[in-house]
Formats: sequence, structure tokens, C-alpha cells
Amino acid sequence: MAVQTRVVSIFFIQLVLLAVSGLNRVSGAGLQTGFYDESCPEAETIALKTIRQAISKDGIVAAALLRLHFHDCFVRGCEASVLLDAAEEGDAEKDASSNFSLRGYDVVDDVKSAIEKSCPGVVSCADILALAARDAVRFQTGGSSWKVETGRRDGRISLSKEADENLPSSNFNIAQLKQNFAFKGLTKKDLVVLSGAHTIGVTSCFVINDRLYNFTGRSDTDPALDPTFASELKKKCKPGGGGPVLELDQGSSTVSDAHFYKAVRQNRGLLTSDAALLNDPLTRAYVKRQSTSPVKATFGKDFGKSMVKMGGIGVLTGNEGEIRKRCAFVN
Ligand code: HEM
Repeated sequence: MAVQTRVVSIFFIQLVLLAVSGLNRVSGAGLQTGFYDESCPEAETIALKTIRQAISKDGIVAAALLRLHFHDCFVRGCEASVLLDAAEEGDAEKDASSNFSLRGYDVVDDVKSAIEKSCPGVVSCADILALAARDAVRFQTGGSSWKVETGRRDGRISLSKEADENLPSSNFNIAQLKQNFAFKGLTKKDLVVLSGAHTIGVTSCFVINDRLYNFTGRSDTDPALDPTFASELKKKCKPGGGGPVLELDQGSSTVSDAHFYKAVRQNRGLLTSDAALLNDPLTRAYVKRQSTSPVKATFGKDFGKSMVKMGGIGVLTGNEGEIRKRCAFVN
């Protein structure tokens, strides 16, 4: 029940924010592809090289980098607030409960240090996050590629409460997800396409514990979960959340493909928010289409388009913000 109460209160906070403010919506104004062509022509190559090295040492970094960009953009826009250390202990976005399992900060720091050696003070941490998300998908997971628009600048504020207020919960239903994305200027199509990011990466038994053991507070299992799949998961996950790491797209979590949509269609999506994609005519139709068509033809292209759109949320450009020297600290 505690989870449900929290989900409902986040939903209402977001509803109020949507009503009173147009902040953080997609604009992307001021961004362009090749922004660093003259000021730091090697920036994208250095980023790519460093990310490749990191991924070759530890493949799971790819999913982490993709998620970091999303969690950055949904809170104050894509301005690298997710990377800042707290001014006061426990106070920054990275300290929020919604961000407790974020990883990959060290890789971003490595990219930043490598770029700073060539062109100090030129390339923002926010742009590094956007480039890293693209390169991770492209080179580790065999997914599609897209042209990243750059020219973002870095923010100076990072507050843990804003992360919890703005990031969607995995317990959200379809109405809550649509509203959360709409608040950022993203459509239902963006929602179903970007949820396809869960074709890679992992989660934990803790995250799906209520779906398995306490769905409505009566020791029940989410009826939207395929019963055979629920039994398999219960063998792995103990009541209370103990158990192994779980692939979000079971059996296919290192490859960016349409298998995720197949799983969702068969009621084998792990998160409530993934399963919820079946509860709206447009998102359901997309799931159905992707689960029968070749990935490169549609999902890959759609994903790139929605990533560029997401990458334009609430950006700082021109003289706004700053170019941080180190991504975890304001200058
Ligand atoms: C639609 C709303 C979304 C919700 C509710 C959601 C929720 C979650 C949750 C609960 C996890 C598992 C975290 C954990 O186990 O601690 C996760 C993982 C992940 N999410 Fe999402 N997510 C959403 C959308 C997105 C989007 C838009 C992207 C990127 C474009 C994304 C990328 C990822 C990736 C790559 C992982 C795996 C991370 C890893 O392995 O480290 N998610 N998400």
C-alpha cells in the first residue's frame, strides 16, 4: 500500500506541475548536429573511443549509460544535473530513491577527462550523456544509431526531491505514464518507443516484489503477469525482494531488438509500466506491430527519433548555465 500511496502522490504532484508550468518541455532550440565541429572537432571520436573501451571491459555499462541520459533529461531537462554531487549530504538527484541503482558515472567522468585534455572547457557534461547513450546502443547492443544534436550547457542545481517528483515510477499505470511523458512534451508514441530501451539492461527482484507477492496488499500476484512466468519468477525471487539480478528483456537483454515487445505482448514484461503499454489502443498497436516486424525496419529508426526529441527536453544553450570542468561539481 505504501508503494501505491507514493505512486498516487507523485501522480498528483506531476498533474499540478503540468497545470501550472510549461518548464522542461521539449524544445531542443539552440542544439545542432556537429556543434563542436570547429571548437572541438575530436570530441565525438574521443567520447566513442572511451565508451568502447569501457564497454569492452564491462558490457553492462551500455544499459547504464542509456538510462543515465533519460534520468538526466526528465529532471530539470538535459543539463547533467543527475551527475552533480550533493552540496549538502544526500541532497542531489543521484541520492534520490528513484536513482539508487543508476550506474556509469565513472565512465562519463572518463570521457570528460579525455575530452578536457584536448579542448578544456568546451564540451558539456550534458552533451557527453547524450553522445554516450547513442554510442552505447550502437556499439554494445547492435542497435540503431542516430545523429545526436549537441550544444547543451550544464546546470548548477541538483535536488533529490525533484528526481522523485519527475521520474516515472515502475508502478505507474498507462494514464500516469502518458501524463508523465506529456509533461515533458513527449507523445504516447514516444512513450511506447522509448520504453523499448528496456530491451537491454537489468532490474532486481526488489523492484518487482509487489507484482509477485503483494499486488493489492492482499498477498496477491499481478493478474496481468502471465501465470507461468510469474511462477518462474517466484522461484528466483523470494518474498521481500531477495534474489538475483533479472534481465529486463529475459533472454535478450544485451541486444537491442524487438524481443522486448514480444515479451510485453505475451504478458512477460517485468515492470508494471512495461505491461501497461497494452492498456492504450495506440501503445498496444505499436507493441503488436513491433513484436511481428524486423527491428531495423521500424523500432531502430523510431527509437533514434524519440531519443533526439527526449534529448531536447529543457536544454540550456547559448549563455545559459556553464560548461563544467568536472561533471560532479559546478565550477
Ligand atoms: C516509461 C517509463 C519508465 C519507467 C517507469 C522505467 C523504470 C525502470 C526501472 C524500474 C528500471 C530498473 C531499475 C532497477 O532495477 O533498479 C529501469 C531500467 C532501465 N531503464 Fe527504464 N524506465 C522507463 C523508461 C525508460 C527510458 C525512456 C529509458 C531510456 C531511453 C530507459 C532505460 C532503462 C535502461 C537502459 C535500464 C537498465 C539499466 C541497467 O541495466 O543499469 N527507461 N527502468
